[in-house]
Amino acid sequence: MAIRAIRAAFLVTVTIAALAASGTLFGAEKMEFDVDAFGERFIVALGGKLYDNLWVITDTTPPAERNPSFPQDVAMSAEETWRCVSCHGWDYKGAAGERAKFGANTAFRSLKQLVGADLELIAGKIRRAPHEYPDAAMPDFVVEMLAMFISRGQYDRDGLMNEAGKVAGDTTRGRDIFEGACMTCHQPDGRAYLIGEKGDRSSLGWVARNRPEQAVHKIRNGVPGAEMLAVGFLEPEQIRDLVAFLQTLDPDER
Ligand code: HEC
Ligand code: HEC
Repeated sequence: MAIRAIRAAFLVTVTIAALAASGTLFGAEKMEFDVDAFGERFIVALGGKLYDNLWVITDTTPPAERNPSFPQDVAMSAEETWRCVSCHGWDYKGAAGERAKFGANTAFRSLKQLVGADLELIAGKIRRAPHEYPDAAMPDFVVEMLAMFISRGQYDRDGLMNEAGKVAGDTTRGRDIFEGACMTCHQPDGRAYLIGEKGDRSSLGWVARNRPEQAVHKIRNGVPGAEMLAVGFLEPEQIRDLVAFLQTLDPDER
Protein backbone atom coordinates (compact mmCIF):
# COMPACT_ATOMS: atom_id res chain seq x y z
CA MET A 1 0.00 0.00 0.00
CA ALA A 2 1.61 3.26 -1.07
CA ILE A 3 1.47 6.30 1.15
CA ARG A 4 -0.39 8.20 -1.55
CA ALA A 5 -3.12 5.57 -1.56
CA ILE A 6 -3.47 5.79 2.19
CA ARG A 7 -3.59 9.52 2.02
CA ALA A 8 -6.48 9.45 -0.41
CA ALA A 9 -8.28 7.18 2.02
CA PHE A 10 -7.83 9.77 4.76
CA LEU A 11 -10.11 12.21 2.96
CA VAL A 12 -12.86 11.64 5.40
CA THR A 13 -14.58 13.39 8.21
CA VAL A 14 -12.68 12.87 11.40
CA THR A 15 -14.01 13.77 14.77
CA ILE A 16 -11.73 16.46 15.85
CA ALA A 17 -11.33 15.29 19.36
CA ALA A 18 -8.52 13.63 17.44
CA LEU A 19 -6.90 16.69 16.09
CA ALA A 20 -7.59 18.78 19.12
CA ALA A 21 -5.66 16.11 20.98
CA SER A 22 -2.75 16.41 18.63
CA GLY A 23 -2.13 20.01 19.52
CA THR A 24 -5.32 22.05 19.34
CA LEU A 25 -4.79 22.81 15.71
CA PHE A 26 -8.50 23.27 15.37
CA GLY A 27 -11.36 23.68 17.76
CA ALA A 28 -13.03 20.67 19.36
CA GLU A 29 -15.52 20.40 16.53
CA LYS A 30 -16.04 18.02 13.67
CA MET A 31 -14.46 19.15 10.44
CA GLU A 32 -13.28 17.84 7.10
CA PHE A 33 -9.77 16.51 7.50
CA ASP A 34 -7.67 16.38 4.38
CA VAL A 35 -4.65 14.29 5.23
CA ASP A 36 -2.77 15.62 2.23
CA ALA A 37 -2.52 18.85 4.16
CA PHE A 38 -0.20 17.17 6.70
CA GLY A 39 3.22 15.57 6.65
CA GLU A 40 3.98 11.95 7.46
CA ARG A 41 5.36 12.75 10.91
CA PHE A 42 2.04 14.23 11.99
CA ILE A 43 0.08 11.22 10.77
CA VAL A 44 2.47 8.80 12.50
CA ALA A 45 2.07 10.76 15.76
CA LEU A 46 -1.70 10.68 15.38
CA GLY A 47 -1.35 6.90 14.97
CA GLY A 48 0.70 6.89 18.18
CA LYS A 49 -2.07 8.69 20.01
CA LEU A 50 -4.64 6.21 18.65
CA TYR A 51 -2.42 3.42 19.96
CA ASP A 52 -2.41 5.13 23.35
CA ASN A 53 -6.15 5.79 23.51
CA LEU A 54 -8.34 5.03 20.53
CA TRP A 55 -11.50 6.15 22.30
CA VAL A 56 -10.40 9.63 23.15
CA ILE A 57 -9.01 10.22 19.67
CA THR A 58 -11.99 8.85 17.71
CA ASP A 59 -14.48 10.29 20.18
CA THR A 60 -16.20 6.90 20.51
CA THR A 61 -17.15 4.82 23.54
CA PRO A 62 -15.44 1.50 24.26
CA PRO A 63 -17.59 -1.59 24.84
CA ALA A 64 -18.85 -1.60 28.44
CA GLU A 65 -17.50 -5.09 29.17
CA ARG A 66 -13.84 -6.05 29.50
CA ASN A 67 -12.02 -7.10 26.38
CA PRO A 68 -12.44 -10.91 26.36
CA SER A 69 -8.92 -11.27 24.94
CA PHE A 70 -7.42 -9.43 27.88
CA PRO A 71 -6.18 -11.67 30.73
CA GLN A 72 -8.92 -11.91 33.34
CA ASP A 73 -6.44 -12.13 36.20
CA VAL A 74 -4.83 -8.76 35.46
CA ALA A 75 -6.54 -5.93 37.31
CA MET A 76 -7.45 -3.16 34.88
CA SER A 77 -10.58 -1.11 34.19
CA ALA A 78 -12.82 -2.47 31.40
CA GLU A 79 -12.12 0.60 29.26
CA GLU A 80 -8.36 0.23 29.54
CA THR A 81 -8.45 -3.41 28.40
CA TRP A 82 -9.35 -2.07 24.93
CA ARG A 83 -6.31 0.20 24.56
CA CYS A 84 -3.63 -1.14 22.19
CA VAL A 85 -0.95 -0.12 24.68
CA SER A 86 -2.53 -2.25 27.43
CA CYS A 87 -1.49 -5.44 25.63
CA HIS A 88 1.40 -4.36 23.41
CA GLY A 89 3.08 -1.95 25.83
CA TRP A 90 4.77 1.46 25.77
CA ASP A 91 7.85 -0.15 24.25
CA TYR A 92 5.78 -2.29 21.83
CA LYS A 93 7.52 -5.40 23.17
CA GLY A 94 4.55 -6.93 24.97
CA ALA A 95 5.50 -9.37 27.70
CA ALA A 96 9.13 -9.15 26.53
CA GLY A 97 9.20 -5.54 27.67
CA GLU A 98 7.60 -3.35 30.32
CA ARG A 99 4.29 -5.35 30.20
CA ALA A 100 6.21 -8.11 31.98
CA LYS A 101 5.09 -6.35 35.16
CA PHE A 102 1.67 -7.97 34.49
CA GLY A 103 3.11 -11.45 34.08
CA ALA A 104 4.23 -13.41 31.04
CA ASN A 105 0.84 -13.61 29.36
CA THR A 106 0.56 -14.53 25.67
CA ALA A 107 -1.99 -11.73 25.26
CA PHE A 108 0.95 -9.36 25.54
CA ARG A 109 2.43 -9.79 22.08
CA SER A 110 5.43 -7.88 20.77
CA LEU A 111 5.05 -5.65 17.69
CA LYS A 112 8.78 -5.07 17.19
CA GLN A 113 8.94 -7.49 14.26
CA LEU A 114 6.67 -5.11 12.31
CA VAL A 115 9.08 -2.14 12.23
CA GLY A 116 9.26 -1.15 8.56
CA ALA A 117 6.64 -3.76 7.58
CA ASP A 118 4.14 -3.32 4.77
CA LEU A 119 1.20 -1.18 5.84
CA GLU A 120 -1.44 -3.38 4.27
CA LEU A 121 -0.04 -6.43 6.03
CA ILE A 122 -0.19 -4.64 9.39
CA ALA A 123 -3.70 -3.32 8.70
CA GLY A 124 -4.88 -6.89 8.05
CA LYS A 125 -3.44 -8.03 11.37
CA ILE A 126 -5.14 -5.21 13.26
CA ARG A 127 -8.45 -6.23 11.71
CA ARG A 128 -8.06 -9.89 12.72
CA ALA A 129 -8.70 -11.77 15.98
CA PRO A 130 -8.07 -11.37 18.83
CA HIS A 131 -8.98 -7.79 18.05
CA GLU A 132 -12.76 -7.45 18.19
CA TYR A 133 -13.27 -3.72 17.91
CA PRO A 134 -16.61 -2.05 17.10
CA ASP A 135 -16.64 -0.82 13.49
CA ALA A 136 -17.37 2.74 14.60
CA ALA A 137 -14.01 2.93 16.37
CA MET A 138 -12.13 1.30 13.50
CA PRO A 139 -12.88 2.91 10.15
CA ASP A 140 -10.21 2.24 7.51
CA PHE A 141 -8.35 5.50 8.04
CA VAL A 142 -7.94 4.74 11.74
CA VAL A 143 -6.53 1.29 10.99
CA GLU A 144 -4.21 2.85 8.41
CA MET A 145 -2.91 5.47 10.83
CA LEU A 146 -2.29 2.74 13.41
CA ALA A 147 -0.41 0.76 10.76
CA MET A 148 1.66 3.84 9.89
CA PHE A 149 2.56 4.19 13.55
CA ILE A 150 3.47 0.52 14.00
CA SER A 151 5.60 0.45 10.85
CA ARG A 152 7.26 3.87 11.19
CA GLY A 153 6.70 5.23 14.69
CA GLN A 154 8.25 2.68 17.05
CA TYR A 155 11.31 3.94 18.90
CA ASP A 156 14.20 1.70 19.88
CA ARG A 157 13.71 1.32 23.62
CA ASP A 158 16.90 -0.66 24.21
CA GLY A 159 19.00 1.85 22.28
CA LEU A 160 17.66 4.63 24.48
CA MET A 161 17.82 3.27 28.02
CA ASN A 162 19.35 0.46 30.02
CA GLU A 163 17.41 -2.49 31.43
CA ALA A 164 16.41 -0.52 34.53
CA GLY A 165 15.10 2.33 32.37
CA LYS A 166 17.95 4.72 33.11
CA VAL A 167 18.83 7.04 30.23
CA ALA A 168 22.46 8.12 29.87
CA GLY A 169 22.57 11.39 27.96
CA ASP A 170 23.94 14.91 27.99
CA THR A 171 21.77 16.57 30.63
CA THR A 172 23.10 20.03 29.76
CA ARG A 173 21.73 19.72 26.25
CA GLY A 174 18.61 18.07 27.62
CA ARG A 175 18.08 21.03 29.90
CA ASP A 176 18.21 23.39 26.90
CA ILE A 177 15.39 21.47 25.22
CA PHE A 178 13.35 21.29 28.41
CA GLU A 179 13.72 24.97 29.21
CA GLY A 180 13.00 25.99 25.63
CA ALA A 181 10.13 23.65 24.80
CA CYS A 182 8.58 22.16 27.94
CA MET A 183 8.99 24.48 30.87
CA THR A 184 6.29 27.01 29.91
CA CYS A 185 3.73 24.32 30.63
CA HIS A 186 5.41 21.91 33.02
CA GLN A 187 7.23 24.58 35.08
CA PRO A 188 10.89 24.43 36.19
CA ASP A 189 10.31 21.53 38.59
CA GLY A 190 8.25 19.53 36.05
CA ARG A 191 5.29 19.23 38.37
CA ALA A 192 2.69 21.28 36.52
CA TYR A 193 0.05 20.17 34.07
CA LEU A 194 0.24 16.44 34.82
CA ILE A 195 -2.50 13.98 35.61
CA GLY A 196 -0.94 11.00 33.90
CA GLU A 197 -1.90 7.35 33.95
CA LYS A 198 -3.51 5.67 36.92
CA GLY A 199 -0.94 5.37 39.69
CA ASP A 200 1.37 8.02 38.27
CA ARG A 201 2.64 10.90 40.38
CA SER A 202 2.25 14.41 39.15
CA SER A 203 5.94 14.90 38.48
CA LEU A 204 7.84 14.62 35.20
CA GLY A 205 10.91 13.49 37.13
CA TRP A 206 8.94 10.65 38.71
CA VAL A 207 7.32 9.63 35.40
CA ALA A 208 10.63 9.73 33.52
CA ARG A 209 12.31 7.55 36.17
CA ASN A 210 9.47 5.13 36.90
CA ARG A 211 7.59 5.01 33.58
CA PRO A 212 10.37 5.86 31.10
CA GLU A 213 8.80 3.99 28.14
CA GLN A 214 5.45 5.68 28.69
CA ALA A 215 7.16 9.07 28.98
CA VAL A 216 9.06 8.57 25.72
CA HIS A 217 5.97 7.40 23.83
CA LYS A 218 4.03 10.46 24.97
CA ILE A 219 6.88 12.87 24.36
CA ARG A 220 7.22 11.58 20.79
CA ASN A 221 3.51 11.34 19.94
CA GLY A 222 1.66 13.62 22.34
CA VAL A 223 -1.08 12.84 24.84
CA PRO A 224 -4.66 12.02 23.73
CA GLY A 225 -7.04 14.78 24.69
CA ALA A 226 -4.36 17.08 26.11
CA GLU A 227 -2.47 20.12 24.90
CA MET A 228 0.83 18.33 24.80
CA LEU A 229 3.48 18.59 22.09
CA ALA A 230 4.54 15.69 19.85
CA VAL A 231 8.30 16.04 19.41
CA GLY A 232 9.06 12.82 17.53
CA PHE A 233 10.80 15.05 14.97
CA LEU A 234 13.74 15.46 17.36
CA GLU A 235 16.83 13.36 16.64
CA PRO A 236 17.08 10.22 18.81
CA GLU A 237 20.09 11.79 20.58
CA GLN A 238 18.02 14.84 21.48
CA ILE A 239 15.24 12.68 22.91
CA ARG A 240 17.92 10.81 24.87
CA ASP A 241 19.41 14.03 26.28
CA LEU A 242 15.96 15.40 27.09
CA VAL A 243 14.82 12.27 28.96
CA ALA A 244 18.17 12.02 30.75
CA PHE A 245 17.55 15.55 32.01
CA LEU A 246 13.93 14.79 32.98
CA GLN A 247 15.20 11.90 35.08
CA THR A 248 17.16 14.37 37.21
CA LEU A 249 14.10 16.52 38.01
CA ASP A 250 12.44 16.44 41.38
CA PRO A 251 14.76 13.76 42.81
CA ASP A 252 12.94 13.49 46.14
CA GLU A 253 9.81 12.21 44.43
CA ARG A 254 10.50 8.47 44.47
C1 HEC B 1 -6.32 -7.80 24.68
C2 HEC B 1 -4.97 -7.64 24.21
C3 HEC B 1 -4.76 -6.91 22.92
C4 HEC B 1 -5.17 -5.62 22.60
C5 HEC B 1 -5.97 -4.66 23.45
C6 HEC B 1 -4.66 -5.36 21.28
N1 HEC B 1 -3.96 -6.44 20.82
FE1 HEC B 1 -2.95 -6.57 19.08
N2 HEC B 1 -2.55 -8.53 19.44
C7 HEC B 1 -2.87 -9.20 20.58
C8 HEC B 1 -2.46 -10.60 20.44
C9 HEC B 1 -2.64 -11.70 21.46
C10 HEC B 1 -1.88 -10.72 19.16
C11 HEC B 1 -1.31 -11.97 18.49
C12 HEC B 1 -2.39 -12.59 17.63
C13 HEC B 1 -1.93 -13.88 16.97
O1 HEC B 1 -0.86 -13.90 16.37
O2 HEC B 1 -2.65 -14.85 17.05
C14 HEC B 1 -1.93 -9.38 18.57
C15 HEC B 1 -1.41 -9.08 17.33
C16 HEC B 1 -1.31 -7.81 16.83
C17 HEC B 1 -0.61 -7.47 15.62
C18 HEC B 1 0.16 -8.45 14.74
C19 HEC B 1 1.48 -8.84 15.38
C20 HEC B 1 2.28 -9.78 14.48
O3 HEC B 1 3.51 -9.70 14.48
O4 HEC B 1 1.68 -10.60 13.80
C21 HEC B 1 -0.77 -6.12 15.44
C22 HEC B 1 -0.22 -5.26 14.32
C23 HEC B 1 -1.57 -5.62 16.54
N3 HEC B 1 -1.87 -6.68 17.37
C24 HEC B 1 -1.96 -4.31 16.71
C25 HEC B 1 -2.87 -3.89 17.67
C26 HEC B 1 -3.48 -2.57 17.71
C27 HEC B 1 -3.20 -1.45 16.72
C28 HEC B 1 -4.31 -2.54 18.78
C29 HEC B 1 -5.25 -1.43 19.23
C30 HEC B 1 -6.22 -0.98 18.26
C31 HEC B 1 -4.21 -3.84 19.44
N4 HEC B 1 -3.33 -4.62 18.73
C32 HEC B 1 -4.86 -4.18 20.61
C33 HEC B 1 -3.46 -8.67 21.70
C34 HEC B 1 -4.02 -7.41 21.78
C1 HEC C 1 1.36 23.40 25.84
C2 HEC C 1 1.68 22.82 27.11
C3 HEC C 1 2.71 21.70 27.11
C4 HEC C 1 4.00 21.71 26.63
C5 HEC C 1 4.72 22.85 25.94
C6 HEC C 1 4.56 20.44 26.96
N1 HEC C 1 3.64 19.66 27.60
FE1 HEC C 1 3.92 17.79 28.29
N2 HEC C 1 1.98 17.68 28.79
C7 HEC C 1 1.08 18.70 28.71
C8 HEC C 1 -0.22 18.22 29.13
C9 HEC C 1 -1.49 19.03 29.19
C10 HEC C 1 -0.05 16.86 29.44
C11 HEC C 1 -1.12 15.86 29.87
C12 HEC C 1 -1.41 15.93 31.29
C13 HEC C 1 -2.00 14.63 31.72
O1 HEC C 1 -3.08 14.29 31.29
O2 HEC C 1 -1.30 13.95 32.43
C14 HEC C 1 1.34 16.56 29.22
C15 HEC C 1 1.89 15.32 29.46
C16 HEC C 1 3.23 15.04 29.38
C17 HEC C 1 3.83 13.76 29.69
C18 HEC C 1 3.08 12.49 30.10
C19 HEC C 1 3.14 12.30 31.58
C20 HEC C 1 2.52 10.99 32.01
O3 HEC C 1 2.18 10.90 33.18
O4 HEC C 1 2.42 10.05 31.23
C21 HEC C 1 5.17 13.90 29.51
C22 HEC C 1 6.22 12.83 29.73
C23 HEC C 1 5.41 15.26 29.08
N3 HEC C 1 4.21 15.92 29.01
C24 HEC C 1 6.65 15.77 28.79
C25 HEC C 1 6.83 16.97 28.10
C26 HEC C 1 8.09 17.39 27.53
C27 HEC C 1 9.39 16.64 27.66
C28 HEC C 1 7.85 18.58 26.90
C29 HEC C 1 8.82 19.40 26.08
C30 HEC C 1 9.37 18.74 24.92
C31 HEC C 1 6.46 18.91 27.11
N4 HEC C 1 5.88 17.91 27.83
C32 HEC C 1 5.86 20.06 26.64
C33 HEC C 1 1.33 19.99 28.31
C34 HEC C 1 2.50 20.40 27.71
